[in-house]
Amino acid sequence: MRLKHCHNFHDFRKLAKQRLPSPIFDYIDGAADDELTCRRNSRSFEECDLVPNVLKGVSHIDMSVTVMGQKLQMPLFCSPTALQRLFHHEGERATAGAAAKFGTMFGVSSLGTVSLEELRKIYNTPQVYQFYFHKDRALNQVMMERAKAAGVDVMMLTVDSITGGNRERDLRNGFSIPFRLTLSGMLQFAFKPMWGINYVTHESFKLPQLDDHVEMSGGALSIGRYFTEMLEPSMNWDDVAEMVKLWDGQFCLKGVMSVEDVKKAIDIGCTGVVLSNHGGRQLDGSRSPFDHLAEVVDAVGDKIDIILDSGVQRGTHVLKALSLGAKAVSGGRFYLYPLAAAGQPGVERALGLMRDEIERGMRLMGCTSTDQLSRGNLRFR
Ligand SMILES: Cc1cc2nc3c(=O)[nH]c(=O)nc-3n(C[C@H](O)[C@H](O)[C@H](O)COP(=O)(O)O)c2cc1C
Repeated sequence: MRLKHCHNFHDFRKLAKQRLPSPIFDYIDGAADDELTCRRNSRSFEECDLVPNVLKGVSHIDMSVTVMGQKLQMPLFCSPTALQRLFHHEGERATAGAAAKFGTMFGVSSLGTVSLEELRKIYNTPQVYQFYFHKDRALNQVMMERAKAAGVDVMMLTVDSITGGNRERDLRNGFSIPFRLTLSGMLQFAFKPMWGINYVTHESFKLPQLDDHVEMSGGALSIGRYFTEMLEPSMNWDDVAEMVKLWDGQFCLKGVMSVEDVKKAIDIGCTGVVLSNHGGRQLDGSRSPFDHLAEVVDAVGDKIDIILDSGVQRGTHVLKALSLGAKAVSGGRFYLYPLAAAGQPGVERALGLMRDEIERGMRLMGCTSTDQLSRGNLRFR
């Protein structure tokens, strides 16, 4: 199977599975506990049907959206994800380069493997910096100042990861950073020698967002210990309010679900919230963001930008979320499998297919701009 044979999410997933050692594939593909939430995230879109209007004169389609002050040429962007260098040696450079080509936003994770400064210098498409709240408040301040100086457009604080999710595939494989693979996990690397050759013949693995502040990639601190020892489990709304004030710009919370929490986010000055369950990787059994979207939009959709994240695999998923009132949509695995399968050309192909699907879908729905998508176009089974 080659990249040109990939026509959708499932094809990219298949190709990624062929190319990656299975512990790394499982790290991307896996989720928490029984992976119920992960499965529900995508299935929830299937219970919603689109009702098209015809004969509307749809020769020109404008799918651009503005979210948290950023104009995006397409309504789907790349969520921040960790460790991209492990998936493909081009890592975040591939994701950022593809996002820039399609005029959309990309996120750089705190656990990213290319520095946010380097990416900012090369690409001028909107950039998000995904942040975790550390016990050391001075460290938080230094890291935010660094992101500000680099020219990051949006600060995104992840709030659904106060402790790591129970990812049993990773436990079975012994997946951790630094690697502590089980014997069978190690054997899987021997089956994918090309991955190993690419890994050792390219730039070494780094965590540049953290390396200056925390001794990580030298092996002194594992990512598991970073979460338990460095992050602040008692983080509360007052702490975040201080951060929002300090950042003094576009600030969103990622991993919020309840209306009550979105109201608090508005009160402390956030400009966006990402309705997300981290792709089902944290609290298994939690509700899917698409199932929950209408409730949040009805309560506060006119006061803050709401982004829908988790489970998005198709252009029509994006159209359904926008029709319910999301300002934009984001996702992880939809571009991570293509990244693993083929680097930047893979991510470009994924974004291109998504853009085509969104455009075709809008045409078939009888909509020439995203603001024409509404609940009138939807029926739930
Ligand atoms: C391999 C992987 C790594 C991730 N790393 C991070 C991260 O470092 N920070 C974060 O806030 N979210 C992270 N996420 C969650 C994504 O930002 C996003 O919320 C999730 O992938 C959405 O679900 P989807 O994969 O079904 O689209 C990660 C997701 C995956 C699959």
